[in-house]
Amino acid sequence: TSSFNSVCCIGAGYVGGPTMAMIALKCPHIEVTVVDLNQQRIDAWNSDNLPIYEPGLDEVVKACRGKNLFFSTDCEAAIRAAQCIFVSVNTPTKKTGLGKGKAADLTYWESAARNIAAWSTSDKIIVEKSTVPVRTAEAIEKVLLRNCPQEGVHFDILSNPEFLAEGTAIDDLTMPDRVLIGGKIENDRGTAACAALCEVYANWVPKERILTANLWSAELSKLTANAMLAQRISSINAISALCECTGADVSQVSFAIGKDSRIGPKFLNASVGFGGSCFQKDILNLAYICECHGLQEVADYWYSVVGMNDYQKTRFVRRVVSAMFNTIRNKKIAMLGFAFKKDTGDTRETPAIDVAHGMIEDGAKIALFDPQVPEEQVRMDMGEEAMKSITCYSKPTEALKDAHAVTIMTEWDEFKTYDWRAIYEVMHKPAFVFDGRNILDHAHLSEIGFIVYALGKPIDPFLKSAEGA
Ligand code: NAD
Ligand code: UDX
Repeated sequence: TSSFNSVCCIGAGYVGGPTMAMIALKCPHIEVTVVDLNQQRIDAWNSDNLPIYEPGLDEVVKACRGKNLFFSTDCEAAIRAAQCIFVSVNTPTKKTGLGKGKAADLTYWESAARNIAAWSTSDKIIVEKSTVPVRTAEAIEKVLLRNCPQEGVHFDILSNPEFLAEGTAIDDLTMPDRVLIGGKIENDRGTAACAALCEVYANWVPKERILTANLWSAELSKLTANAMLAQRISSINAISALCECTGADVSQVSFAIGKDSRIGPKFLNASVGFGGSCFQKDILNLAYICECHGLQEVADYWYSVVGMNDYQKTRFVRRVVSAMFNTIRNKKIAMLGFAFKKDTGDTRETPAIDVAHGMIEDGAKIALFDPQVPEEQVRMDMGEEAMKSITCYSKPTEALKDAHAVTIMTEWDEFKTYDWRAIYEVMHKPAFVFDGRNILDHAHLSEIGFIVYALGKPIDPFLKSAEGA
């Protein structure tokens, strides 16, 4: 049999860490080593303070670390020892050069591949875990074949994109909707490599959920899944704008259309905009690939999903400013939440960054509270100049005291449990709530006396008159 008992993963990030911990947990017979260039990150994985916040992750890591799960910076040793190497390095959007602002930057991927080629002395199965442009496997194979000094070493490349979402990574990994494995299923070696990886997942994933496909389909499925998911959000966000003009309520619309089994109820929450490291990057990448193939209309279709997301963020800021009599200069505005979604400390591409910049441009003083995001992270995301207008608080009550308005940026559950009556008492009047996630009880807030703006909901008469509508 082609099954293996030694696995290595290059890249100990949001994907590499949790996915490998799950494999270690479910496959005690497999030794799993996760390597990274970043010493600090590896030290954190080896400590009681893991580098990422993810519900349930601590327990899984504790159960396996030091037994069959190891974190190390010794990439060379780990590559040599492994029969199967997952590559889970970051693939961000290119910042400069050809395709800048759109194409995926494969620098990290290529350097990982060159290391694999240089250090491998036996056959390896190479698994693309990172999200990559369609046909990346072809490029990677060339790098591997042309750079391996060792005669007779064979590499089989598989695509095994990861579909976990942050905040629910452990549940998603425990019971995935599907596991997708792409390989060269047209030949025996490719089929055997696919089968070996299927066998790993079959230790806990029901067989009917493990799908195989050709390499290019697997690669493209990942970009397509993210583009379609983001498209749903942009679609409902577009409708939220129309709701505000017409008196329709976007939650009622989402509920009603979600009952159609062809549409389904999930991923229809209007929001201040989608964030996260994946959606925007992957859509831009997909659209860029279309452009490269001369499919401008297809590219434009997908770019518009990102355009709608930008519009939603801008629209939110405009609403805040216009509702507060067209000036927020020197007004303390509490911002609750900075992470791109609840149950994570991740702030990559969070809509809060754009909203904060927008409000600062209009002179606001932002009082920020997020249960998981440390001030240092906010500083890195916002920059020194913007930080002159931002104060980070470790207690929500301090952020809310003497504020003119509250903006909800992340749907953290704890925000729902706050004593909003007491908050109202310590705020300036009129006290505004701008709910960018539609998580609060708006009727209750209005009853207390708040002026409430909720995305895609009928507009408060006070706001209408303030905005001169
Ligand atoms: P990340 O930035 O958290 O982690 C990547 C890690 O790779 C970093 O720690 C970096 O130091 C390390 N690295 C880079 N080059 C290296 C090299 N040559 N050798 C060793 N280590 C190296 O990224 P992430 O969020 O885990 O995402 C990884 C990939 O998975 C991306 O392609 C992303 O699109 C995809 N993905 C992410 C998610 C998500 O929710 N974050 C979900 C599905 C897929
Ligand atoms: C996403 C994909 O869901 C996952 O399958 C893929 O592997 C990585 O990218 P992630 O970005 O971690 O996962 O979180 P997700 O739950 O998809 O949320 C992305 C953004 O969309 C968040 O900012 C979230 O708040 C927002 N969102 C989500 C909405 O605004 N409305 C919704 O209905 C759902």
